[in-house]
Amino acid sequence: MATDLTVIVLAAGGGTRMRSKTAKVLHEIGGRSMVGHVLAAVAALEPTRVVAVVGHQRDQVGPHIQSLLPTVVLAVQDDQQGTGDAVRIAVDAAGTTSGTVLVAAGDTPLLRGESLRDFAQEHEAAQCAVSVLSGVVDEPFGYGRIVRNDEGDVEAIVEEKDATVDQRDIHEISSGILAFDAEFLSEALPRIGNDNAKGEYYLTDTVGLARDAGLTVGAFPIDDWMQTEGANDRVQLAHLGRELNRRIVEQWMREGVTVMDPATTWVEADVRLAPDVILLPHTHLLGATVVGEDAVIGPDTSLKDCEVGVGARVVRSHAELAVVGDGALVGPYAYLRPGTELGSSGKIGAFVETKNARIGAGAKVPHLSYVGDADIGEGTNIGAGTIFANYDGVAKHHTTVGKGAKTGANNTFVAPVTIGDGAMTGGGTVVRRDVPPGNLAVSGGPQRNLDRRTPRESGSTSMGEPAADEGESGG
Ligand code: UD1
Ligand code: CA
Repeated sequence: MATDLTVIVLAAGGGTRMRSKTAKVLHEIGGRSMVGHVLAAVAALEPTRVVAVVGHQRDQVGPHIQSLLPTVVLAVQDDQQGTGDAVRIAVDAAGTTSGTVLVAAGDTPLLRGESLRDFAQEHEAAQCAVSVLSGVVDEPFGYGRIVRNDEGDVEAIVEEKDATVDQRDIHEISSGILAFDAEFLSEALPRIGNDNAKGEYYLTDTVGLARDAGLTVGAFPIDDWMQTEGANDRVQLAHLGRELNRRIVEQWMREGVTVMDPATTWVEADVRLAPDVILLPHTHLLGATVVGEDAVIGPDTSLKDCEVGVGARVVRSHAELAVVGDGALVGPYAYLRPGTELGSSGKIGAFVETKNARIGAGAKVPHLSYVGDADIGEGTNIGAGTIFANYDGVAKHHTTVGKGAKTGANNTFVAPVTIGDGAMTGGGTVVRRDVPPGNLAVSGGPQRNLDRRTPRESGSTSMGEPAADEGESGG
């Protein structure tokens, strides 16, 4: 491909039909904004420079694009006077005069880098002044039609509103993705007029200008038309979102992932899955989640930005920014919040919430607990219904439980506190002071059993006090 490649991404349009405070191209599917998907496809071409044209809501759109591509050149189009006007502004901003210029829209999230590359290569191989990525569709309404002569050469692209009745019958349409010889483009842009039905400067008029100058024009159809489709409203957004997901899930199945129910399994674009992962129905893998070989996820599980180890099992749970070690078990009904790190073969069981908690290899928090701001050592078992009370109303404090400890049911660990290696606590213990290694901590007074029955009920013969048993109890 040309050594000098400029890509122009058009993202100045209003997106009124989204009815949103969020700019159209920032709406997300598959874990990325629409323009984020386009930029990812563009990046695959390793272009010399990328220019993004921003206008509507540019205070949102500009910084977003810069965050994804710091080297981008932002060109501002204040009045959206058409795609020809937008590209003129972009070319002025880039100062390009040689090589190839590729123009794409910022709202086509299914676009693939390979398709752009193939198109640019066809354009260059045929030595065209301008080429259009076209498609043959059943319903061409609304698109620019590709008008060919008897020899099949492209003569013009005619917009819907300017088309004759006969031209409206043409089913080959423009995707809006065009490639140009940079020198031709620079000469053609100032000559585009706006004497048309919309009163706009149409970029597609460059085709007629090239023909008039006796230059070659190409139209290269893409089989997979959906890659060029934009989302103008939320119905189309959901439609493309489902299709994008279908494609991602299918790709993972081809790479060796078992997906029991593709229709209810959602996998975002940046997720990475190892072979022989099993995804059960209603599993959502989001963000930069990575899942190791033989892990089983689901059903009914959402993982965002998580790392799940080899052979781990996560059942009916919700997790974000958490690490689950090899062979570990999570759920059912666990809630892993950011900073949770479960060691290999460890367990976070039913109705357990964790946050900023490192739980060592083989350690278990099996039932009904809250573990916040804690370290739990290897092989330790935390009793059912234990609360790590990390918040004193002002600040958060840390709890450390050593290795091989066994804590009783229904405990409260009042942070900051440390429970040593091999220590134990009795059921119902409120741990307010450190427990040295190997010690057993119990708290609260001894159990007292008060006989509430009358002497007659209790069968007592004396008229003395009710029987009171204040013997030791297990605590
Ligand atoms: C455009 C094409 C049409 C093609 C269709 C494919 C032209 C004249 N027409 O029509 O041939 O079939 O796309 O979807 O090019 N934009 C700007 N600044 C502007 C105008 C538009 O940045 O002044 C951006 C929009 O945000 C959008 C893209 O350019 O991302 C296309 O503009 P739009 O108005 O949607 O063009 P269409 O009428 O759909
Ligand atoms: Ca459009």
